Amino acid sequence: MIRPSAAPTGAYPNNIPMAKEKDNLMDKIVALAKRRGFVFPGSEIYGGLANSYEYGPAGVELKKNIMDEWWRVFVRERSDMVGLDSSVILHPKVWEASGHVTGLVDAMAECKHCHTRTRADHLIEDYFEKKGEKVSVEGKTPEELDHIIHEKKIKCPVCGSFDWAPVRTFNLLFETSIGIVPESQSKAYLRGETAQGIFVSFKNIIDSTRVKLPFGVGQMGKSFRNEITKGNFVYRTLEFEQAEIEYFFNPDESDWRKLFDEWKASMWRFITNNVGVREESLRWREHGDDERSFYSKRTEDLEYKFPFGFKELWGIAYRTDYDLTAHAKHSGVDLSYTDASGKKFVPHVIEPALGLNRLFLIAMLDAYAEDGDRVYLKFKPRLAPYKAAVFPLLANKEDLVAKARGVFDMLKSEFNIAWDDRGNIGKRYYAQDEIGTPYCITVDFDTLEKGDVTVRDRDTAQQERVPIDTLKEFLHGKIYG
Ligand code: GAP
Repeated sequence: MIRPSAAPTGAYPNNIPMAKEKDNLMDKIVALAKRRGFVFPGSEIYGGLANSYEYGPAGVELKKNIMDEWWRVFVRERSDMVGLDSSVILHPKVWEASGHVTGLVDAMAECKHCHTRTRADHLIEDYFEKKGEKVSVEGKTPEELDHIIHEKKIKCPVCGSFDWAPVRTFNLLFETSIGIVPESQSKAYLRGETAQGIFVSFKNIIDSTRVKLPFGVGQMGKSFRNEITKGNFVYRTLEFEQAEIEYFFNPDESDWRKLFDEWKASMWRFITNNVGVREESLRWREHGDDERSFYSKRTEDLEYKFPFGFKELWGIAYRTDYDLTAHAKHSGVDLSYTDASGKKFVPHVIEPALGLNRLFLIAMLDAYAEDGDRVYLKFKPRLAPYKAAVFPLLANKEDLVAKARGVFDMLKSEFNIAWDDRGNIGKRYYAQDEIGTPYCITVDFDTLEKGDVTVRDRDTAQQERVPIDTLKEFLHGKIYG
């Protein structure tokens, strides 16, 4: 969660040494992601830009499908939720009021010899990890971190020197400036979380809609943080997508503990049922007093067992009325809610905050499967980048190609369909398996005579003949049934 003080976040260091096979899994996913167009290194032709990535043709579809599923489940299918799409650049005072200008900070250690900058908590936790000890320095002040580094004589992981500048905090908010001429420029920030846009629009939402408490506002979009990180692929990046909900309620009428547990159950259901993540790879972890943000009465993280350890995917916090009260104070605008009896009060909120890029990575890790030489990603069909691929058996037979084009055109209005006429059928299956396409449809000479096609299932590799007339319903039932 957002840091309340100089204390770094994350109970686990970023680079826990991995078991060999786990190491392999991460390496395999990174390689497959590039090979098959899921994720490319950021700005690669210019030598790359650390902690930034591009989502390729398959990746953008997978990420969009995950986002659409979240929106469907948490916004569209609930009568107590509405959506919002607020600005990336909000008034700079928003971030002062929210506490991010002073509070969204990490502690940094800088080697005076090679100028490597690293998060002080990661440096210390890695040191202990190498000794086989699992130590969390969550909640420690920069002075305390400095003390540990010096007491243990921890060396720079890059050049081996022991020559550290004093540990200091740095703010994670990305600064930018508004205005085209330097003299009239004013400082602004790229948003550090999507949540603040919801608080800022709270009054407009209650004035413009028929919502009544308890209700929630969901928002998805990019957030930006100037992270110092050692990588772990898309786990922690400079820009990332969040899907956040602020669920507003009257604390005199709704029991926050009950709402908190209901939201936890919804989050768990989404991850296991809708995304299909194995339950044994998930766990809840409650934040201790030294870790929890100042605005939160209770915070829990839903963590996933990444190859580099159990780490946060989705946080849930009881933020009380902290943010609305802070914005009312700083803006001078009344942000209270008036109930049916005429009583005015500032609602409280429960906030489930999800990182979509982390969920994207989890979807890939969890779907990865090998069967002998065959590699396939067994995504839930609803999330798969392509729902089916259409192949003409031979690319140089006009009538086969024309028939296959007809099948492709028929399906494409309803599903995202891939087309492939390169190489032999085995190679085409191989490529589609690696991007997780659940069904491959081959148009062959029998199709021309009988009007049916071969449909091959990704997970079982079994094939069956399906009449073209019923192909749409067949796929619909398999994917959305
Ligand atoms: N509004 C509360 C909030 O922003 P957070 O725990 O700082 O809380 C919510 O962020 C989620 O956003 C995290 O659980 C994580 O999944 C994701 N997230 C945070 N920082 C990230 C980063 N640098 N890269 C990728 N995802 C990130």
